[in-house]
Amino acid sequence: MTQKPWQGRFDKPTRQEVEEYTESLSFDKRLYKYDIKGSIAHCRMMAECGIISHDEASEIVTALGEIQREIERGEFVFEPFYEDIHMAIEHRLIQKVGDIGGKLHTARSRNDQVCLDMRMYLKDAIIEVRINLIRVMEALANLAEENVEVVLPGFTHLQHAQPVSLGHHLMAYCEMFRRDEERFRDCYKRVDVLPLGSAALAGTTFPIDMEWTAKYLGFSKITRNSMDAVSDRDFLVEFLAASAIIAMHVSRLSEELIIWSSPEFSFVEISDAFCTGSSIMPQKKNPDVAELMRGKTGRIYGNLISLLTVLKGLPLTYNRDLQEDKEPVFDTVDTIVRTLQLLALMLPEVKFNEERMESALESGYTLATELADYLVSKGVPFRKAHHSVGQIVKYCIDSNKKLTDCSLEELKQFSKCFEEDVFEVLDYRKAVERRKSIGGTSFLRVREAIEEIRQHLSMLKEELGSKS
Ligand code: ARG
Repeated sequence: MTQKPWQGRFDKPTRQEVEEYTESLSFDKRLYKYDIKGSIAHCRMMAECGIISHDEASEIVTALGEIQREIERGEFVFEPFYEDIHMAIEHRLIQKVGDIGGKLHTARSRNDQVCLDMRMYLKDAIIEVRINLIRVMEALANLAEENVEVVLPGFTHLQHAQPVSLGHHLMAYCEMFRRDEERFRDCYKRVDVLPLGSAALAGTTFPIDMEWTAKYLGFSKITRNSMDAVSDRDFLVEFLAASAIIAMHVSRLSEELIIWSSPEFSFVEISDAFCTGSSIMPQKKNPDVAELMRGKTGRIYGNLISLLTVLKGLPLTYNRDLQEDKEPVFDTVDTIVRTLQLLALMLPEVKFNEERMESALESGYTLATELADYLVSKGVPFRKAHHSVGQIVKYCIDSNKKLTDCSLEELKQFSKCFEEDVFEVLDYRKAVERRKSIGGTSFLRVREAIEEIRQHLSMLKEELGSKS
């Protein structure tokens, strides 16, 4: 019967139920590429350092390459008996090359090996997330550019507040995703650290060269403390936290698309390709994709809390609890990448309804601030101006009028300071154009912001082009 690699000190075989309970192969097999790459690096380094011979190393490296191809062709048998991907690959290696294969695990442990694999996996995942964030930002910048001069009510408390450029509204989301991208870039620095060589927890007696391995695998740094190296999962927590923030941003955007596409708003129409119908109500077109983007935020937050809870109170160093780090991370990577991919596809197809936005501007008295500012420019203290305009709004509500319907005589009843030039400020576009403060909604500022983000995005793409 095949033995476990650690069977030596055991009298009884593992119970079947225990094997099923403790295995991680069913989900960590997705690390195979990284596990093999890490093993090749380790093997070559050992040959460089004279720990194994160059002949032994090349035999092992060749066999590892074959194993990778077996996995990729679907020929590899993932036997739960081998617990995890590390042991499954090692077992196959020994099957192929005999005893020499057993030399690969010199000067390392699964504890540093699994950290290495997760770090390598996450480095690629971070780049994928960043690429998709860039696509979403590009889609938003394109939409913003098409809609710089479309004016709609900006909201506070979900009540009509002041007229804003639709481009400005869309660019607000671009800012959020831009910070997200920055967070991932920052998180990457702490992932990009080589732990291999920390061995089980204390380092190794063999004359290894961690710098050689780091260089070979493209790591910028090496862990400074072997005990920390095998028990640290902060880098995963950071990734999960940064992903949770993206999910929160996506869910806010989704929510706006959902309420804006309701008949009450009708500001936007999401393309048919991103909606589904109802099995019972023939008239329905539901924004399911946006709803699921909002809904998936739940599992992404959950994954962060799962891992934080696994780590809480864990003594140094490696504990088997740490195996529970994988599923939350894999699930978050899959969910966030797919969500961003879909968002980048959905955004270019949304259609905004300019007429509805315009009529919302009128029913919402969004020019009230313009009127108050006008009175201030005529020397009226702001508080007094605010009060007079409040009375005008009440008068309009009572007499079912828009602010723009009022004559000069009607306005003069509320303040003598109104003159003919008041009608110049009672204009939605002008109200937008006048807000030229930094970060304000004037068309000019929005165009500048779009131009600026485009430069930023092309710089990021250039950087990532060389990495991927
Ligand atoms: N499958 C394990 C994990 O994911 C690998 C490390 C196991 N180490 C050990 N000493 N049992 O954490």
